[in-house]
Parts: sequence; C-alpha cells; structure tokens
Amino acid sequence: MIEDRLIEHPCPDCLARAIAADIRSAIDSTHQQGNRASLALAGGGTPMPIYRRLGEFDLDWSRVSAIPGDERWVDADHPASNYQALKSCFAQTTMELLPLVPAQAGPEPNLEQARASLDQLMKPFSAVLLGMGGDGHFASLFPNAVSPAVGLAPESNEDVLLVTPDPLPTEAPYPRVSLSLARLLRTDKLILAITGQAKLDVLELAAQSAAHLAARQEVDISRLPIAALLAHAGSRLEIHWSP
Ligand code: 6PG
Repeated sequence: MIEDRLIEHPCPDCLARAIAADIRSAIDSTHQQGNRASLALAGGGTPMPIYRRLGEFDLDWSRVSAIPGDERWVDADHPASNYQALKSCFAQTTMELLPLVPAQAGPEPNLEQARASLDQLMKPFSAVLLGMGGDGHFASLFPNAVSPAVGLAPESNEDVLLVTPDPLPTEAPYPRVSLSLARLLRTDKLILAITGQAKLDVLELAAQSAAHLAARQEVDISRLPIAALLAHAGSRLEIHWSP
C-alpha cells in the first residue's frame, strides 16, 4: 500500500511550497555543518514550480551547487535542456549549476562532462529531487534501457550512465545522461514528487514489485525502474503527491 507512505497535498502549488521548504531545510542543515550544499534536481515539468519557490528563499546561495539528475543530449541553450530550465528557475540566485552535457553537445554522447561536474560536488548530496514518468522512469532510468546492475542497483561502480530510451520519449526524443540509482541514493534527503492519479497507480504497481524485490523474489526490475527506487530507498524516500 503506497498510500500510507504518501505525503499528500491538496494542490500542486501546496506540494511545491512544501517541497521547496523541505529542500531549503536540507541546505540550511548542510550549511550549519560548515559544508557547501549540493543538490541533484529533476527535469521535466512537475518540479519547475518547486524551483521557482526555492529560488525565492533568502539563503547563502554562493554556498550551493546543483546538478541535473539527468539531461538530454542537446546543447545547453536547447529548449529541451534541463540545464537551461534550471538556470532560468534559479536566475535570481548565485547558485552554481553544473552541467551533465557540454554547452555544445556534439555528435557523440559521452560522460566526460558529467564525470567532471560530479567530481566537483560534495558527497553526499544535501537533497535529491526526483520526478517520475508515466512509464515508471525516474531521472533518465527508462524501462528496458538500463542494465539493472549498473543503473538500478543500490551499489554500483557507475555514478552516471548514457541511456538511449527505446522508444525515444515523444516529449524529449534525445539520448540521455543520467545519474545512477546508486549515486542518487547518496543523499541526506531524498524526495519524489508526482501529481495525478495515473502516476499514483503506477507507483502502487511498482510498490508490489518492490515488495517482491525486497523479499528477494525474481523481479524484472528494468521493466519498472521506479520499483528499484522504492525497494532500495525504503523509508528514506519522501513521496509527495497532489491531485
Ligand atoms: C526528464 C526528467 C524526468 C522527469 C519525468 C517526469 O529529464 O524528463 O528528469 O525524469 O522527472 O519524465 O516528468 P514530468 O514531471 O514532466 O511529468
């Protein structure tokens, strides 16, 4: 039953305010420990109102660095670039935003820029914010496109991976660069933000697979990647939902 784990909000704006405050408190906690805060932030549409709210807070943004949790293999000024969307949401702040893809993407996807950016970030993250697609993907860990041992395991030798969803998502038909589940789990605060009944139904289905996985039963986790997040994050994962 996923309902008993949900943090439910009456509206998307209520969800945005609550999660923005949640991430703000994670940043404050890192700063109070004398460290630089680091964030991994989801792309897509759901989180944008969260980022606009978060960017309004008066905090020491010069001590915050962020990275997209995943990126499309496009130039930084392309409309589909998560980097560009995040840059615009946080334009009023002095937050450092690190890219997963070079400003000019180039013909062949590779992980050079992603690895260089990740090397600059404090571990663990102060907070990770994830969304979920209707097919059960999170970050760019798409169904049947990721080796479970590399991208969907709690421990992995890979912090970041190249993913070519098949079929390419209609809303953003590009190869992807994605943080692995293992790297996303290395965080003080882990948040999943979803809206609508359809995504809740997918999450319910995934919770059943996650239970089988936790009971070490045979599960083809690559078909529903979000189940790996539920299984390996456990109660650490804060799931926020609004209609
Ligand atoms: C991306 C995102 C992706 C997103 C889901 C949900 O690059 O597209 O990081 O993982 O979180 O696709 O997107 P929506 O919030 O727009 O439904």
